[in-house]
Amino acid sequence: MSNLTLNAVESLTGEIAVPGDKSVTHRAVIFSAMADGPCTITGYCGGEDCFRTIHAMRALGIQIQIAETVLRVEGRGLRGFSEPDQVIDCGNSGTTMRLLIGLLSGQEFFSILTGDHSLRGRPMGRITNPLRAMSAEIAGRRGGELAPLSISGRRLKATSYNSPIASAQVKSAVLIAGLFAEGETTFHEPAQSRDHTERLLRHFGAKLHCESETNTSVYSSRLHPRELVVPGDFSSAAFFIVAGLLVSNSRIILRNVGVNNTRIGLLNILRQMGGWIETSNLRDESGESIGDLHVHSSPLEGVDVDPTDMLRAIDEFPILCIAAAFANGRTQIRGMQELRVKESDRIATMAEALRGIGSTVEELPDGLVIHGHPTLHGTTCKSYGDHRVAMALAIAGLRTKGMM
Ligand code: S3P
Repeated sequence: MSNLTLNAVESLTGEIAVPGDKSVTHRAVIFSAMADGPCTITGYCGGEDCFRTIHAMRALGIQIQIAETVLRVEGRGLRGFSEPDQVIDCGNSGTTMRLLIGLLSGQEFFSILTGDHSLRGRPMGRITNPLRAMSAEIAGRRGGELAPLSISGRRLKATSYNSPIASAQVKSAVLIAGLFAEGETTFHEPAQSRDHTERLLRHFGAKLHCESETNTSVYSSRLHPRELVVPGDFSSAAFFIVAGLLVSNSRIILRNVGVNNTRIGLLNILRQMGGWIETSNLRDESGESIGDLHVHSSPLEGVDVDPTDMLRAIDEFPILCIAAAFANGRTQIRGMQELRVKESDRIATMAEALRGIGSTVEELPDGLVIHGHPTLHGTTCKSYGDHRVAMALAIAGLRTKGMM
């Protein structure tokens, strides 16, 4: 277990570039491995989760050269993977496990996926059920609800799946499996989740059709080799954006950040709270929107968070809680039951942490009501091994005064 101590600062000024986008990197590595030849991925995310995906591809027979900023992936086509002779360990990475289930369901060999304690407790039925409907043979604990999972891949049948939840991981697993199925595979979700898979698959030349924001179809298609550039991760930028708003006399510029509309709900919420955030230099790169973000410290007001914005800020809940804790008035975040099955139960974890720094919080089954206060005190908080909770608490430490 490691500890990090942060002290309040007077101001934050400067220009930074955040690491490459994690969601895009996972997909770029998998789609490059499925492509008909060598691909390069520049500006990839070098975090542990993406390395789990890289190691999984290597275990499936794909050669990947790793340089400081560029990955070279020797794509072997849709059916060029080979049977792994060991269990694939996805560590803490839900995206690795869920996207791989889609890929492995279409491979005519046997494989087993596992993960760390947290990942082995996260729901997998949301993926295994639609893939079984496509005739994948998947076994696991509690009837395939929990990992470890074994997958006997086979020729898949196309499906039309109506997902009860908006989830980019579920959507991606079904669309990836759809690349191996005969005919049209359609995924329908109740609200639009992040759309990196659709954008990247189109960029790789897949036959994909978006009937509407919530209805996507894919046909079996080959992927063409590409040179990709990964945008900076908005979810990493989020911590610096909130730091810049909360710490007085701050001016921060974040360069080359991904500003895909399905990811930037936090910008809308923070602007509604009174945050000064401007974008400049907007452009497109490898199918994704990129821009620079300019942030000035601002007094924030509590708001009732719009559920559509929140769905587009699902990973930003911990840092939004910190912004709300220092805002003037009450912030309500509802409709987010999904947060209870992330790397930790983020509703409970953040309620405990906020109370620790002296905030008044009401915990609801699907969210939090936070009564903001401009001065909160330092304390020792637990992240429960959840990286986004730890980073959010680090930002809180830049504003808290004294220790309890
Ligand atoms: C992700 C999708 C989201 C998000 C996760 C990454 C992805 O999860 O919370 O951190 O890369 O597809 P859900 O698909 O479960 O909403």
